[in-house]
Amino acid sequence: MKIGIGNDHAAVELKQIIQSYLEELGHEVVNYGTDATESCNYPEYGEKVGRAVASGEVDCGVLICGTGVGISIAANKVKGVRAAVCSDVTTARLVKEHNNANIIAFGARIVGTELAKDIVKAYLDATYQGGRHDARIAMIHEIENQL
Ligand code: RB5
Repeated sequence: MKIGIGNDHAAVELKQIIQSYLEELGHEVVNYGTDATESCNYPEYGEKVGRAVASGEVDCGVLICGTGVGISIAANKVKGVRAAVCSDVTTARLVKEHNNANIIAFGARIVGTELAKDIVKAYLDATYQGGRHDARIAMIHEIENQL
């Protein structure tokens, strides 16, 4: 898969670890930054990865900030994005199976390195179940269309 990755200053080291891990798994990774540890603004990177996912430039995205929350909120403002913050592997699996999340997010100040790897692996290994979930996802995007 082609995976977009983005982060703020709180997550530079974890981003690099996750990028290498994804490449070891055989994925192509596009790094949207930042690679600088100076304080920056997470909405910039959430938007970049959100737009890349929504346009089809990449197949899905991984976003990391301190908590995973701010950067996912920003990405979710891009039409077509379903970014989900996960701190455990069960949620990571279910956000793909039920919500067909196209971006997974987590917090570098919340999860450790090994758990972060397990979260992205659980998300990537899972398959969207479709069926009853299709209508619910359509309802989400209907809200978006009314904005
Ligand atoms: C940066 O200090 C921090 O606010 C950011 O990484 C993130 O946790 C926001 O949601």
